[in-house]
Amino acid sequence: MNIVGIESSCDETSVAIISDGKLVSNLIASQDFHTQYGGVVPELSSRAHLQIVSPLFKQSLKEAGLEIADIDVVAATAGPGLIGALLVGFSFAKGLAYSLNVPFIPVNHIEGHIFSGFLMKEKPEFPFLGVVISGGHTLLLLVKSELEIYKLGSTIDDAAGEAFDKVAKMLGLGYPGGPKIQQYAIEAEPSEIRFPVARTKSEFDFSFSGLKTSVLRYLQENFPDNNIPEKEKRKVAKAFQDAVVKALSKRAEKALKRFDVKSISVVGGVAANSGVKDGFSMLAKKYGKTLVIPSLEYCGDNGAMIALRGKQLFEAGKKFGFETNAFPALPHNHFLQSDV
Ligand code: KG4
Ligand code: ZN
Repeated sequence: MNIVGIESSCDETSVAIISDGKLVSNLIASQDFHTQYGGVVPELSSRAHLQIVSPLFKQSLKEAGLEIADIDVVAATAGPGLIGALLVGFSFAKGLAYSLNVPFIPVNHIEGHIFSGFLMKEKPEFPFLGVVISGGHTLLLLVKSELEIYKLGSTIDDAAGEAFDKVAKMLGLGYPGGPKIQQYAIEAEPSEIRFPVARTKSEFDFSFSGLKTSVLRYLQENFPDNNIPEKEKRKVAKAFQDAVVKALSKRAEKALKRFDVKSISVVGGVAANSGVKDGFSMLAKKYGKTLVIPSLEYCGDNGAMIALRGKQLFEAGKKFGFETNAFPALPHNHFLQSDV
């Protein structure tokens, strides 16, 4: 069986093919031109998806050694994401499935991330603690099976990746900020700077907006003319990254004490961060859990995770008609912590 997965929710166009359970192609076209604007420009993103999605699909078929008629199922990101960007991949996929008369599976982008650890050789084991940390989302989840996802907590303000991007902007490091902050943090000399980890009403929720303000205040007080030496930028980047890692691992540790899980899986763009990896490695070791963090190409947005999630839903017998629209985007139920 050949499943195509198409992703276009933000600034990556990606087409992947899973053939008889094996990932045979995962092409990702990143829209790097947004860096000059300091963030993703939705209109430009949609136009770029439109230009690349069709050639990327053809290239993916070629890489997989398949003909268009060999496709059995088409899956595409239905949301959440930028509406114009989503509609490009979604409508392309729907049209493809319609013309081939094969099933079409709309996939929730976050669910794609949640199960992206299953693209690795060492896979998470159910039940696992899912930590989704991306540019748009920060979620702590108890994942009991492919169809039972319980939300324990989420951010009450900024997403983790958003905080990385905003702090990078304050430091004049450009967009996307995550990789830059990481690099600066690695090169930082030891320092006394500590930023506080915010408390939240619910023990599993996150908050990063206060941390962002603390960084801003620190910079305004110490560098009122906004002339920040590179050496100081590195120290601030490190202290900020440490605070994010602490906030994430503190909530995860609480969840590990409460719920009996076999694995921890940290996914999404921020899971690529070396400080985050180190923090969760220590936590997993302390509690005797296996830790699964996807490799770099599967941490960021990719079609492989969409194809995989499409496969799971298809095999679970989930049926979707062609009348399915991009919104509402949740293909199936999400449960809250109170249901655990
Ligand atoms: O999952 P993703 O590619 O897109 C969304 O669905 O949002 O995540 C993008 C986010 C951006 O905010 C980016 O700055 C962050 O992931 N990111 C990182 C790193 N690489 C990407 N954050 C921290 N450290 C990194 N190495
Ligand atoms: Zn994402």
